[in-house]
Amino acid sequence: MSENPTAVRERGEPGVRQVQARVVATRTEGAYRYMTFAAPGVPALAKPGQFVALTVGGPTSALLLRRSFSIHAASPATEEGEEDILDLVIAPHAPGTEWLTSREVGDVVDLVGPLGRAFPIPREKVSCVLVGGGYGSAALFSLAMTLRDRGCRVELVLGAATKDKLFGAYKGDRYADGVTITTDDGSLGTKGWVSDVLPDLLTRTEAGVVYACGPMAMLESVAGICGQAGVVSQLAVEESMACGVGVCMTCVLPVVGNDGVTRMVRSCVEGPVFRGDRLRWDSIAGGRSVVPDDCLGAPVPAVPSTPVEGAEGLDREAMEPAGREDLADSAVGRPPETAGVTSSEVAGAEGDDTVEGER
Ligand SMILES: Cc1cc2nc3c(=O)[nH]c(=O)nc-3n(C[C@H](O)[C@H](O)[C@H](O)COP(=O)(O)OP(=O)(O)OC[C@H]3O[C@@H](n4cnc5c(N)ncnc54)[C@H](O)[C@@H]3O)c2cc1C
Ligand code: FES
Repeated sequence: MSENPTAVRERGEPGVRQVQARVVATRTEGAYRYMTFAAPGVPALAKPGQFVALTVGGPTSALLLRRSFSIHAASPATEEGEEDILDLVIAPHAPGTEWLTSREVGDVVDLVGPLGRAFPIPREKVSCVLVGGGYGSAALFSLAMTLRDRGCRVELVLGAATKDKLFGAYKGDRYADGVTITTDDGSLGTKGWVSDVLPDLLTRTEAGVVYACGPMAMLESVAGICGQAGVVSQLAVEESMACGVGVCMTCVLPVVGNDGVTRMVRSCVEGPVFRGDRLRWDSIAGGRSVVPDDCLGAPVPAVPSTPVEGAEGLDREAMEPAGREDLADSAVGRPPETAGVTSSEVAGAEGDDTVEGER
């Protein structure tokens, strides 16, 4: 009811708002709840790829952490009497999302946003392929509109395990020049994964940029295919986020900067969009990332636990491994910027000659 195709282009001053968002409509779409909120001031600030963080459980809830959701559509009010509208697509998953998806029209939820860095937009009119997995597809529709407004050709690939977990399949052709559907079980479209159809699609469309949002395993295979094809990929990751605003460091991922150095960076503020070839996939597996040994600030290897001959008389300080002074200047526990890297270096957007960071 509230999607406004031009909304994401109507931008106000950059910033983040905390508002009491009121549910104005809610409906079921397959396995998801499509929820429409009146969120004063937020839609005008939102860009494709950004997200919002919502409190869950009510004022006395033990569910302390906010939950993050991609902005599906953002529609600032254009006339007196209209409301600023945000559309989210939410999968009931566990207590927080179950509480949220059971909200009814008129209920109010505390919302912070827009958060994170948006998808960079190509300077040239290149051919773009947008790949969405499950509810991850929701993040790509406003991007598709922005890209087409720029004159880019847009090809949409929507995949999910089953037909009911596909999002947006019925409306994809309104947003893209071509739509490919895949399901793992073949209940709609081509049977298989999005990665099965992607190589041919990249060749056929002569793609210059691939954008993707979905599960980490899907993003990894998209990055790999794009790497082989020599195509830039811009991926919106969904790392677990405890605060969503850059404070807690739970969302860190190993990312290679423009200088070739790997740093652990916060996906909520430096991301969630990263270039696929900058993510250290060798240290991200099964939804968990580890600090690569060559990462700036990586822990110094521990002292061997086997007794060292003649070391009995040494005190603990003397037993500390050499190089602790290096740790004092490490990226651990500090925002990456202060460790000598800027956000743009980390995301690889501004330094990229194919895309521009519209931020
Ligand atoms: C940028 C982003 C965009 C997203 N977009 C969507 C979307 O559009 N639609 C959608 O349905 N879902 C989306 N998600 C996933 C959604 O946030 C989760 O499904 C939701 O938080 C689950 O909440 P829950 O209470 O139901 O689940 P639970 O698993 O009970 O709780 C999740 C909570 O635990 C925290 N948590 C879990 N593991 C860790 C950890 N290792 N460290 C710190 N905290 C942890 C999470 O941060 C979160 O607050 C998105 C996530 C991110 C990060
Ligand atoms: S979620 Fe807390 S720093 Fe990113």
